[in-house]
Amino acid sequence: MSDLDIVALVLQEHQAIRRTFSSLESIQGTDALAKEWQELADRLEVHASAEESMLYPKLLRVGDDDHADTDDAIRDHNDIRDTAHAVADHEVGTDAWWDAVRACQESNEHHLDEEERDVLPELKEKTDQAALDELGVQWLAFHEEHESAKGLSGEDKDPEAYIEQNT
Ligand SMILES: [Fe+2]
Ligand SMILES: [Fe+2]
Repeated sequence: MSDLDIVALVLQEHQAIRRTFSSLESIQGTDALAKEWQELADRLEVHASAEESMLYPKLLRVGDDDHADTDDAIRDHNDIRDTAHAVADHEVGTDAWWDAVRACQESNEHHLDEEERDVLPELKEKTDQAALDELGVQWLAFHEEHESAKGLSGEDKDPEAYIEQNT
Protein backbone atom coordinates (compact mmCIF):
# COMPACT_ATOMS: atom_id res chain seq x y z
CA MET A 1 0.00 0.00 0.00
CA SER A 2 1.30 3.45 -0.79
CA ASP A 3 1.69 6.06 1.95
CA LEU A 4 -1.17 8.07 0.48
CA ASP A 5 -3.62 5.19 0.04
CA ILE A 6 -6.82 6.27 1.80
CA VAL A 7 -7.40 2.72 3.06
CA ALA A 8 -4.01 2.73 4.80
CA LEU A 9 -4.68 6.19 6.26
CA VAL A 10 -8.10 5.16 7.60
CA LEU A 11 -6.64 1.99 9.14
CA GLN A 12 -3.86 4.02 10.78
CA GLU A 13 -6.40 6.36 12.33
CA HIS A 14 -8.54 3.43 13.51
CA GLN A 15 -5.53 2.08 15.38
CA ALA A 16 -4.69 5.50 16.84
CA ILE A 17 -8.31 5.91 18.04
CA ARG A 18 -8.32 2.43 19.63
CA ARG A 19 -5.01 3.16 21.37
CA THR A 20 -6.27 6.48 22.71
CA PHE A 21 -9.44 4.91 24.13
CA SER A 22 -7.30 2.28 25.88
CA SER A 23 -4.80 4.82 27.20
CA LEU A 24 -7.44 7.00 28.90
CA GLU A 25 -7.44 4.65 31.92
CA SER A 26 -3.81 5.42 32.72
CA ILE A 27 -4.20 9.22 32.72
CA GLN A 28 -3.81 10.87 36.11
CA GLY A 29 -5.76 14.01 36.99
CA THR A 30 -9.12 15.23 35.75
CA ASP A 31 -7.73 18.16 33.75
CA ALA A 32 -5.45 15.87 31.75
CA LEU A 33 -8.27 13.35 31.35
CA ALA A 34 -10.69 16.04 30.15
CA LYS A 35 -8.12 17.32 27.64
CA GLU A 36 -7.33 13.86 26.26
CA TRP A 37 -11.00 12.99 25.99
CA GLN A 38 -11.77 16.23 24.12
CA GLU A 39 -8.95 15.55 21.66
CA LEU A 40 -10.30 12.04 21.12
CA ALA A 41 -13.89 13.28 20.69
CA ASP A 42 -12.66 15.83 18.13
CA ARG A 43 -10.72 13.13 16.33
CA LEU A 44 -13.80 10.89 16.16
CA GLU A 45 -15.75 13.75 14.55
CA VAL A 46 -13.00 14.57 12.03
CA HIS A 47 -12.66 10.87 11.19
CA ALA A 48 -16.39 10.33 10.59
CA SER A 49 -16.78 13.60 8.69
CA ALA A 50 -13.79 12.86 6.48
CA GLU A 51 -15.23 9.46 5.63
CA GLU A 52 -18.60 11.05 4.87
CA SER A 53 -16.90 13.69 2.72
CA MET A 54 -14.85 11.42 0.44
CA LEU A 55 -14.84 7.73 1.36
CA TYR A 56 -18.53 6.80 1.37
CA PRO A 57 -19.30 8.93 -1.72
CA LYS A 58 -16.62 6.94 -3.54
CA LEU A 59 -17.91 3.63 -2.18
CA LEU A 60 -21.38 4.52 -3.47
CA ARG A 61 -19.93 5.24 -6.93
CA VAL A 62 -17.97 1.98 -7.21
CA GLY A 63 -19.99 -0.53 -5.15
CA ASP A 64 -22.36 -0.94 -2.20
CA ASP A 65 -25.12 -1.49 -4.75
CA ASP A 66 -27.91 -1.85 -2.20
CA HIS A 67 -26.48 1.11 -0.15
CA ALA A 68 -26.72 -1.05 2.98
CA ASP A 69 -23.11 -0.57 4.10
CA THR A 70 -23.33 3.20 3.69
CA ASP A 71 -26.68 3.40 5.47
CA ASP A 72 -25.28 1.35 8.35
CA ALA A 73 -22.13 3.48 8.51
CA ILE A 74 -24.00 6.80 8.71
CA ARG A 75 -26.18 5.37 11.48
CA ASP A 76 -23.05 4.14 13.29
CA HIS A 77 -21.39 7.56 12.90
CA ASN A 78 -24.50 9.11 14.46
CA ASP A 79 -24.32 6.62 17.36
CA ILE A 80 -20.67 7.51 17.91
CA ARG A 81 -21.53 11.24 17.82
CA ASP A 82 -24.46 10.81 20.21
CA THR A 83 -22.49 8.72 22.71
CA ALA A 84 -19.52 11.11 22.51
CA HIS A 85 -21.76 14.13 23.15
CA ALA A 86 -23.40 12.30 26.11
CA VAL A 87 -20.04 12.20 27.90
CA ALA A 88 -20.38 15.95 28.52
CA ASP A 89 -23.41 15.29 30.74
CA HIS A 90 -21.14 13.90 33.46
CA GLU A 91 -18.36 15.16 35.66
CA VAL A 92 -14.98 14.08 34.32
CA GLY A 93 -13.56 10.98 35.97
CA THR A 94 -16.75 9.92 37.79
CA ASP A 95 -18.20 6.43 37.34
CA ALA A 96 -21.02 7.89 35.22
CA TRP A 97 -18.44 9.66 33.03
CA TRP A 98 -16.48 6.45 32.52
CA ASP A 99 -19.69 4.56 31.69
CA ALA A 100 -20.46 7.19 29.04
CA VAL A 101 -16.93 6.98 27.62
CA ARG A 102 -17.18 3.18 27.48
CA ALA A 103 -20.53 3.39 25.67
CA CYS A 104 -18.83 5.56 23.05
CA GLN A 105 -15.89 3.16 22.88
CA GLU A 106 -18.25 0.23 22.26
CA SER A 107 -20.16 2.07 19.52
CA ASN A 108 -16.86 3.00 17.94
CA GLU A 109 -15.35 -0.48 18.15
CA HIS A 110 -18.43 -2.11 16.61
CA HIS A 111 -18.22 0.36 13.71
CA LEU A 112 -14.48 0.13 13.06
CA ASP A 113 -14.75 -3.66 12.92
CA GLU A 114 -17.51 -3.44 10.30
CA GLU A 115 -15.56 -0.96 8.20
CA GLU A 116 -12.48 -3.15 8.33
CA ARG A 117 -14.43 -6.28 7.49
CA ASP A 118 -16.83 -4.97 4.80
CA VAL A 119 -16.21 -1.41 3.64
CA LEU A 120 -12.47 -1.00 3.26
CA PRO A 121 -11.90 -4.34 1.43
CA GLU A 122 -14.68 -3.51 -1.07
CA LEU A 123 -13.31 -0.02 -1.68
CA LYS A 124 -9.80 -1.43 -2.15
CA GLU A 125 -11.00 -4.12 -4.53
CA LYS A 126 -13.04 -1.79 -6.74
CA THR A 127 -10.78 1.27 -6.86
CA ASP A 128 -7.43 1.61 -8.66
CA GLN A 129 -4.33 2.74 -6.81
CA ALA A 130 -4.22 6.22 -8.37
CA ALA A 131 -7.77 6.92 -7.19
CA LEU A 132 -7.02 5.56 -3.71
CA ASP A 133 -3.99 7.86 -3.52
CA GLU A 134 -6.01 10.83 -4.74
CA LEU A 135 -8.56 10.15 -1.99
CA GLY A 136 -5.68 9.93 0.50
CA VAL A 137 -4.52 13.40 -0.49
CA GLN A 138 -8.07 14.67 0.09
CA TRP A 139 -8.15 12.83 3.44
CA LEU A 140 -4.98 14.58 4.64
CA ALA A 141 -6.19 17.98 3.40
CA PHE A 142 -9.52 17.50 5.22
CA HIS A 143 -7.69 16.69 8.46
CA GLU A 144 -5.55 19.81 8.11
CA GLU A 145 -8.51 22.04 7.34
CA HIS A 146 -10.61 20.66 10.19
CA GLU A 147 -7.98 20.19 12.87
CA SER A 148 -9.66 19.81 16.29
CA ALA A 149 -13.01 19.48 14.47
CA LYS A 150 -12.85 23.15 13.46
CA GLY A 151 -15.70 24.04 11.10
CA LEU A 152 -17.56 20.75 11.62
CA SER A 153 -21.08 20.87 13.05
CA GLY A 154 -20.90 17.55 14.91
CA GLU A 155 -24.56 17.04 14.05
CA ASP A 156 -26.10 13.71 13.08
CA LYS A 157 -26.77 13.09 9.40
CA ASP A 158 -29.93 11.62 7.91
CA PRO A 159 -28.84 8.37 6.19
CA GLU A 160 -31.47 8.47 3.43
CA ALA A 161 -30.75 12.10 2.58
CA TYR A 162 -27.01 11.44 2.62
CA ILE A 163 -27.33 8.50 0.21
CA GLU A 164 -29.61 10.49 -2.08
CA GLN A 165 -27.13 13.36 -2.20
CA ASN A 166 -24.25 11.04 -3.01
CA THR A 167 -25.74 8.74 -5.64
FE1 LIG B 1 -16.68 5.31 9.88
FE1 LIG C 1 -13.40 4.69 10.07
